[in-house]
Amino acid sequence: MGATCNQEVMITVIGKGKSFSVVSDKTENILAVINKQGAYFSAVCGGKGNCGKCKIRLVEGTLAVTLADEKHFSAEELKNGYRLACRAYPETDVTVSMEFQDEEGFEIQVDHSHARLSDKKVEESGYNIAIDIGTTTIAFQLLGKTSKKPINAYATLNRQRAYGADVISRIQASCDGKHEELQKSIREDLMVGIIWLVKDTGIEPSQIESIAIGANTTMIHLLMGYSCANLGVYPFIPVDISLQEWPFERVLGNTYSNAEVTLLPGISTYVGGDITSGLYSCDFGKKDEICLLVDLGTNGEMAIGNHDRIVTTSTAAGPAFEGGNISWGMGSVQGAICNVEIQADGVAVQTIGEKPPIGLCGTGVIETIAELVEKEYVDETGRLEKPYFETGFELAKTPEGKTITFTQQDVREIQLAKSAVRAGIEVLLRRFGVTYDQVSCVYLAGGFGFHISQKKSMIIGLIPSEFDGKIEAVGNSSLGGALRYLQESDGKDEILKVLSLCSEIDLSTDADFNDLYMEYMFFE
Ligand code: FES
Repeated sequence: MGATCNQEVMITVIGKGKSFSVVSDKTENILAVINKQGAYFSAVCGGKGNCGKCKIRLVEGTLAVTLADEKHFSAEELKNGYRLACRAYPETDVTVSMEFQDEEGFEIQVDHSHARLSDKKVEESGYNIAIDIGTTTIAFQLLGKTSKKPINAYATLNRQRAYGADVISRIQASCDGKHEELQKSIREDLMVGIIWLVKDTGIEPSQIESIAIGANTTMIHLLMGYSCANLGVYPFIPVDISLQEWPFERVLGNTYSNAEVTLLPGISTYVGGDITSGLYSCDFGKKDEICLLVDLGTNGEMAIGNHDRIVTTSTAAGPAFEGGNISWGMGSVQGAICNVEIQADGVAVQTIGEKPPIGLCGTGVIETIAELVEKEYVDETGRLEKPYFETGFELAKTPEGKTITFTQQDVREIQLAKSAVRAGIEVLLRRFGVTYDQVSCVYLAGGFGFHISQKKSMIIGLIPSEFDGKIEAVGNSSLGGALRYLQESDGKDEILKVLSLCSEIDLSTDADFNDLYMEYMFFE
């Protein structure tokens, strides 16, 4: 094989379901080439060479070994051609195989308090679709217009993960000229879900009348093609976070349906429509008692209040709770460790789907750290005891015989994430002017909140132990709010009422936040 011309090389990528060859510019790395082809690739760090998730293997040609490659691969693996796609800039024609983690069977949260699928056959006059666009996953529910009952559901991964796990990397990618790719990616994901629901339910696209979407501000901007330039820089002014009603074609870019699409309104750049939707789903606008909503994802968003007023905030928890930036971290896929118990004679682990262990999902990460703290392998400052400080704590072996460990760096990542959330909760209570006792109910939203052991999240100090007995896991409350919006005739008035009650506090300028953040870094 030779180079096609001076500045161009032929890159052939062998994937599981899809293989392709493209002529590419030498200035482009292989991850960018793969993304452009629409092949799904989960690049947690957004192509910075940090996460080690974008593994490829050289089949033919040459690829220089980079410093990042040396960090992530053993000498043996490097010899066998393993490289990071985001650091791989071929100088000659190459053939590589994608060695990324298989994310089939990813567990996606579609459960919420209004989620029961109807088994009654009702003659419907039309259909509506509720959608939650999460940074990681997208969930859909189709409901009948007459019965107002959910009839069918669909869920998928957000393929924008190829551009990074969190909203910051997506904003960055958008500002780096990838905004059209990102919009195309989310539109395609939405179309796949909508078409699947229409076909599987046996209805016509023309029968879909309304679609309601709950999503964070960045997801809305990327979907609508709004500039993200101001989302990442102070004072973080969004283009539009109001309740928006658009024709299907404007939002999805095609005329498959004539449905009207409503984008649920957000509160700010970092407390988006998914939270307004969650607050509406949990009935905050009608509550006498004071309740707290905590949505744990790559951004920890939270809100406290009742029908009088609601105070919201967001804290940069980072992707650790979703397995990101953790050595053996991964999404909630089959084989991910989700339960850990350190026993006298070894470590007992449980995996999703009871498959052989291949890594740790977010729940497994919390389980591990709680066990390490409780069994005193980690001291209160977060230091792993010797020899694990150097080697990492061994949890299990993969089918290939590799050791899945939890390292000192992983403990540090969790300390940063958990203290950000915990200090956020504490500041929110202080600014609202209540004590733990005065909070009647704590709603934990999101897939992670649905699965974590509440006891273990208290052991590590993520959730205050004073909330014991008050916690309710509400699942995908953003999807729940979008569904409710379509079910209730006064949905628009109600969600706008919730929105009018909300104010936001900025933790970065809060007088107490930094001290509390340092304090909660410790394990009690
Ligand atoms: S190391 Fe390549 S995407 Fe993270």
